[in-house]
Amino acid sequence: MERITVAEARRAEAIGRHVEVRGWVRTRRDSKANFSFLEINDGSCLANLQVVADANLDNYHDQVRHLTAGCSVSVQGTIVASAGAEQATELKAEQVKVYGWADPEKYPLQKKRHSFEKLREWAHLRPRTNTFGAVARVRNCVAFAIHQFFQQEGFLYIHTPIITASDCEGAGALFRVTTLPLDNPPRRPDGQVDFQQDFFGRPTYLTVSGQLEAEIYATALSKVYTFGPTFRAEKSYTTRHLAEFWMVEPEMAFYDLDDNMELAEKFLKYLANAVLQRCQEDLAFFEKFIDPQVRQRLETLLNHSFHRCSYSEAVGILEKSGQTFEFPVAWGKDLQSEHERYLTEHHFGGPVILYDYPKQIKPFYMRLNDDGRTVRAMDLLVPGVGEIIGGSQREERLEVLEQRMRELDMSLDDYWWYLDLRRFGTVPHSGFGLGLERFVQFVTGMTNIRDVIPFPRTPGWAEF
Ligand code: 4AD
Ligand code: MG
Repeated sequence: MERITVAEARRAEAIGRHVEVRGWVRTRRDSKANFSFLEINDGSCLANLQVVADANLDNYHDQVRHLTAGCSVSVQGTIVASAGAEQATELKAEQVKVYGWADPEKYPLQKKRHSFEKLREWAHLRPRTNTFGAVARVRNCVAFAIHQFFQQEGFLYIHTPIITASDCEGAGALFRVTTLPLDNPPRRPDGQVDFQQDFFGRPTYLTVSGQLEAEIYATALSKVYTFGPTFRAEKSYTTRHLAEFWMVEPEMAFYDLDDNMELAEKFLKYLANAVLQRCQEDLAFFEKFIDPQVRQRLETLLNHSFHRCSYSEAVGILEKSGQTFEFPVAWGKDLQSEHERYLTEHHFGGPVILYDYPKQIKPFYMRLNDDGRTVRAMDLLVPGVGEIIGGSQREERLEVLEQRMRELDMSLDDYWWYLDLRRFGTVPHSGFGLGLERFVQFVTGMTNIRDVIPFPRTPGWAEF
């Protein structure tokens, strides 16, 4: 017998087919003494399949009448037209096989709604809820569309290392990787820990970004992207920060900052369109239950050019805004999320790219402008989330880069290979990083980033 998914079984074209469907029971309703409705979900879509089971089944009284939320079943039968308004089809059961029971006294996901905080403690069960199933499908759609976009644009997917000895962003938010015994590490004569005896013979960390290695490949293969987990040991308790998050980072030779902005805009529009086209059922759910603005925000992003505004202009706008911010605005200070949200949500009312930031608030690798004070940085801000992309044109001039690294007390020796890229056939080049979870937040309207990644890692939390 052919096995089909709930999504397939719900389509009118399936009527008349003799099939098997497997999944988990969401609810059981008994009608009269000898017939029941089961709602079955298998994650293939948001909606459930209605199964009609009656007393002709030999296990009807022993088993079917005892099924509860969370039980796993296989149902064989015929797809028939449904009289219900909710669905086109239903499955008339000829056999119901129970794989696993779920004690209703103990199974946590009962009909009542649970808070997202509570569901985080049950991250092993939360994908069985409507919200987390929908988030997983949208996240999958975005991840696939990311690859489609870059493959279509002629980029090569490269794999940059997870373990690294360099600190790309220079923010000091690194997780150390070591096999040295913590209670009694080997020490040098001066008392410092002797990392020469560590696994890699030097201090190593989990990567904060694959950019530096992506630059190596871009300056040979022209257009590349890396897409993987990145790690930041910041003690941030916000709804926008994770200690482990996924970042996609394209890096392009012969691109200046304008080319970079254009690519970022085209990329986000591609992703927005993919979600609008392919996740209609889930989007309708988010619009109804999570955030009524989600679809409109996607459409605004898709149908308008992104605003562009220099950091200095942005500071001017904020100073003249008449708003009282928690953090005061001043040229040279980093913008806080309240400032970013004001700009994208109130002032521009849509996506905006800020560029040319003061060099002191940006990492060492960004290209210095002729004014000597700003660098060719760009941050892309969207309503509801704030910064979603950070990128820049890279400093390709050896002397300027070395000078900047000395100012920042960085060891030129440690970055000898990065400097070599500027010694041998250097080219202007640019790239950016999109935080996958921030984009999924934008698309779904989920307010807490911990709810758009299957297993969030945040300070004090690494369960599962
Ligand atoms: O702005 P960031 O730090 O830029 C970089 O890492 C560059 N090396 C990227 C590049 O040019 N190749 O991070 C890029 C994006 C941010 O805009 C944000 O969306 C996301 O990564 N991000 C985080 N997402 C979740 N939790 C965190 N702690 C994040 N930090 C950054
Ligand atoms: Mg940034």
